[in-house]
Amino acid sequence: MEFVEAVEELAQRAGLEVPREAGAAHPDSSTRPHYELLERISAWYQEQLRSHAQANRAIEYLKNRGLTGEVAARFGIGYAPPGWEHLTSALNAGEKIQHMLLELGLTIQRDDGKGAYDRFRDRVMFPIHDRRGRTIGFGGRVLDNGTPKYMNSPESSVFHKGQELYGLYEARKAVRKLERILVVEGYMDVVMLAQFDINYAVATLGTATTPEHLEVLFRTVPEVVFCFDGDRAGREAAWRALENTLPVLTDGREARFLFLPDGEDPDSLVQKIGKPAFEQLVDSAGHLSDFFFERLSATLDIDSIDGRARLVNLARPLLARLPDGMFRQLMTERLAELARTSFASVSTRLELPRGAADKPPPAPARPAPGAGGKSPVRDAIAILLYQPSLAQKIGELPFKEPVDVPGVALLEELLQLLQQQPLASTGAILEHWREREEVRHLARLAQWSPVREDLDLLPDLQRQLRLIYRLHLEQRIEFLTNRDKIQRLDENERKEYWRLQTLLQETRQSG
Ligand code: UTP
Ligand code: MN
Repeated sequence: MEFVEAVEELAQRAGLEVPREAGAAHPDSSTRPHYELLERISAWYQEQLRSHAQANRAIEYLKNRGLTGEVAARFGIGYAPPGWEHLTSALNAGEKIQHMLLELGLTIQRDDGKGAYDRFRDRVMFPIHDRRGRTIGFGGRVLDNGTPKYMNSPESSVFHKGQELYGLYEARKAVRKLERILVVEGYMDVVMLAQFDINYAVATLGTATTPEHLEVLFRTVPEVVFCFDGDRAGREAAWRALENTLPVLTDGREARFLFLPDGEDPDSLVQKIGKPAFEQLVDSAGHLSDFFFERLSATLDIDSIDGRARLVNLARPLLARLPDGMFRQLMTERLAELARTSFASVSTRLELPRGAADKPPPAPARPAPGAGGKSPVRDAIAILLYQPSLAQKIGELPFKEPVDVPGVALLEELLQLLQQQPLASTGAILEHWREREEVRHLARLAQWSPVREDLDLLPDLQRQLRLIYRLHLEQRIEFLTNRDKIQRLDENERKEYWRLQTLLQETRQSG
């Protein structure tokens, strides 16, 4: 818990009020009435399960599902009776409470705007608690095959589905020192597992497992076991959970995956096989690392170079999400092993997520022309903006092939514009880009002027163009070199490689 949260909780347990600085608003002051209202309603639903004329049906339903009254009470399970206006009338609700009921989604505004009706009717009610045990919302299940099977409280100022886990409060209360948590899909799974004395299960609330959930889980325990259907949908959901888990897997934390036999959920399975066998399954749950590599290589032919290259390319961005540490190191080693390449080549690639082009260009071996730009492209543009007449003297860009260097397209466009309008003023030139993002860069570069007015800038411009071309060649060569490390170059790529090497030699000789 956060410090303030911990103090609040300890104070509450000890029956004390946390002293506040004079004038400081209580942090709960705006939401406290909401919590109190939710508490009253939860108690009222529980009361209905005991005493409402229709409650027999709900009790029968729970019994049929195998739940004892003891566990139902532990989870505060209740009953929302049939009828449309219980909450407003039962609570004798004034305007303020009416308003809060709407805010909490417990009632729904009528279309004609006149009044509201109860969201939950004739349903078994599962109160959802936050970590501190405050009721923050409800899930309600139909008693038959009606739809929707479950209804949940909507998000509200006190209920954030992406952060809350059903059963976490109950688990923390039941187990003195939680060592691991089992993440399941449904309310009934959590409750039935508890019935079988497996008190460390929680469920997400009809949403995927979010990174916030994972933070909460790993702040509570070092080991999280995800429990999913063995079917396709279950495996997809598990993979999404894995993706969200990666960023929080600092050393010492472990995530594992348990896939259940087809057609079973924890609720049905634990009733069939009992606690010891179920816990054996949990103990044998697969490791994240195994699921990770199995899934990635499932559709690949790891015996081919192509398949191994693809594996590296798929795994690389995912491993890059892992925090630095031993686990990341070992996962990277495993990847190298599977791809039958060296750790170094796999891990360099981790540092270069978008290929060699991300590498900063090699430090220029030239004296800066003073254009203030950091690249030959900027320098060339600055020179052209200062002395547009040079455009005529240059003619076409002297590149023997399309050059893939950032900014070259802009340089080319500028060159063409200047050739068409040799007398355009700087203002007119910038006007051409007025609507576009490039205008900011151009405006900045247009402020450049050479140290001495009488300098002939043509040789300088030509030199920048040669540097651009060289940069292009170097980048492309580096790309092909890296590529060759994981996937041998094909015939055409080899030819290209040697041609580029020759061209690079030539540009170096010409200075
Ligand atoms: P399942 O459909 O797997 O239900 O939904 P279940 O837990 O096995 O339910 P029982 O055993 O039939 O009672 C899993 C979870 O998905 C959410 C609920 O949180 C549920 O617990 N859900 C499901 C909904 O929010 N709405 C629905 O209509 C169905
Ligand atoms: Mn079920």
